[in-house]
Amino acid sequence: VGQNLIKLSAVDSTNNYLKNLASNSEPLPEGTVIMADHQYAGRGMQGNVWLAQPGKSLTFSLLLRPTFITADRQFELNMLVSVAVNNVLSKYLKDSLSIKWPNDVYVGNQKIGGVLIENVIAGSQLKQSIIGIGINVNQGEFEEELAGRPVSLSQILHQNVNLMVLLNEICVQIEQLYLKLKLGKSTKLRELYVNNLYRLHKVSTYEQNGRVFEGIIEGISETGLLRLRPLGGETLEFGFKEVAFI
Ligand code: BTN
Repeated sequence: VGQNLIKLSAVDSTNNYLKNLASNSEPLPEGTVIMADHQYAGRGMQGNVWLAQPGKSLTFSLLLRPTFITADRQFELNMLVSVAVNNVLSKYLKDSLSIKWPNDVYVGNQKIGGVLIENVIAGSQLKQSIIGIGINVNQGEFEEELAGRPVSLSQILHQNVNLMVLLNEICVQIEQLYLKLKLGKSTKLRELYVNNLYRLHKVSTYEQNGRVFEGIIEGISETGLLRLRPLGGETLEFGFKEVAFI
């Protein structure tokens, strides 16, 4: 991963760029990475935008062809990427890192990174996966109205971090976990993911269709749904956007 690296100074979205490139006639090597200094129309999950100040955040996309993963197991890629980012960032930040289901990375109650995965499925197998990763690295400040209470690495460390070094560390980590997954080691991955979940086993507040309730995250289902038990009730399973973290 990252051997074939294409660096762009500006692009709408590295996910869009890589998607177009991958659909051209010339076959792109698996592991190709597109990185951009400035992304002026970065996309987040569910149509959200990913805002970036030029040169301050690490924004890149990588191409995988995980044909060994069946469509019903595609959440394994979300787990893989969030665990990889979490592992790498934990070298910089000792404590308080966690994975906010499904694939944000948090420091305390603030978002430091996000992932946007776009899969192409053929029959019952994954054919192509474009994995977009955005990490707040050297931003000094954020506009206050941004959702997810963003925070950057440099705000915590009080020093800048080299984007290329961080990119390389994440690529190495993704490759290692990807090769393990290829060998069928998904149980370990699931363990790493669940054990690092934001708010795991803690009583916290959630909202579903305007109803606010206290509940406890117990883990995830086989297919990656959030298993959440309202206090005094039975465990429920939620898909993305079916439940909000308050
Ligand atoms: C989210 O937080 O909802 C996901 C954010 C993903 C942002 C990254 S930045 C690189 C890649 N290109 C995009 O347009 N989005 C992803």
